[in-house]
Amino acid sequence: MVTTAQPRLLDHVVSAHQFDRDLLEHVVARASALDGVRDRRLDGRIMATLFYEPSTRTRLSFESAMVRLGGSVIGTEAAREFSSAIKGETLEDTIRMVEAYADVIVLRHDEAGAAGRAAVVARVPIVNAGDGPGEHPTQALLDLFTIHRELGRVDGLHVVLCGDLRHGRTARSLALLLTRYEGVRMSFVAPAVVQMEPDILSLLETRRVPYTVTDNLRGAVTDCDVVYQTRIQKERFTDPGEFGRARGDTRIDARLMERLPQRAIVMHPLPRVDEIDPEVDADPRAAYFRQARNGVAVRMALLEMLLGETSPA
Ligand code: CP
Repeated sequence: MVTTAQPRLLDHVVSAHQFDRDLLEHVVARASALDGVRDRRLDGRIMATLFYEPSTRTRLSFESAMVRLGGSVIGTEAAREFSSAIKGETLEDTIRMVEAYADVIVLRHDEAGAAGRAAVVARVPIVNAGDGPGEHPTQALLDLFTIHRELGRVDGLHVVLCGDLRHGRTARSLALLLTRYEGVRMSFVAPAVVQMEPDILSLLETRRVPYTVTDNLRGAVTDCDVVYQTRIQKERFTDPGEFGRARGDTRIDARLMERLPQRAIVMHPLPRVDEIDPEVDADPRAAYFRQARNGVAVRMALLEMLLGETSPA
């Protein structure tokens, strides 16, 4: 096979802000092309996973993606306890060491901005696998890929984001990506205590993306194309009273599904606790397990873009 050298499209994946429409379409095209592939295109390359917060999907789907492309994986989970962070090593010093052992570092951290700090000192690509309440750009990319795959387009859709939008980094990153599409409108459904932060709402206003802020999920879903549910992130509350007020009336159950158009899909980055009743799982509009599976193909595309010979989309 003859490959034409292309300029590298990504140095790091730190924020959804990095992705314009062309880059998003490239990720979607490469993820579609790589879905189901197993080859050796990243033979000899090493990925380190450095996770300071728990994870099932992000860490294992990145590891699976790397192995499917012929690369190898090293890493530490519970890095707060099981890396030298417990001895007081700074994140920056840890990154300076791990870059000597790996060609790419996938980092999950509990502080917003941690991936950006890592990227400043790193000489290998840093991938933000979630930085506290900040962002989760690779999740948002797989969410976008899922919407493409399920509905065939993103332009013109009404997307309802609901649950803990204040701490929900996946909802923040997805809202940013959706501003790159034409005719999208968003509804943010949450009690006031966990509503979407003003930085995202201001950006929507700057980009002239129409949005609604409400706590009424039953009203918002009647003409939607996507409902994106999120978990109330108990671990991020310091005030138990605030956590109590965060629950609101945003649960998705069979009664709520009766109000959802037949064309619409229900998404969730997972894990869920009780914000989607398991009785909804059998409904064909429940897309959240299909969504999680899409993480492998999207992360293969990102690893290829960061490490491999880039191919034209
Ligand atoms: N969606 C997501 O980030 O899941 P994990 O916390 O299991 O990685």
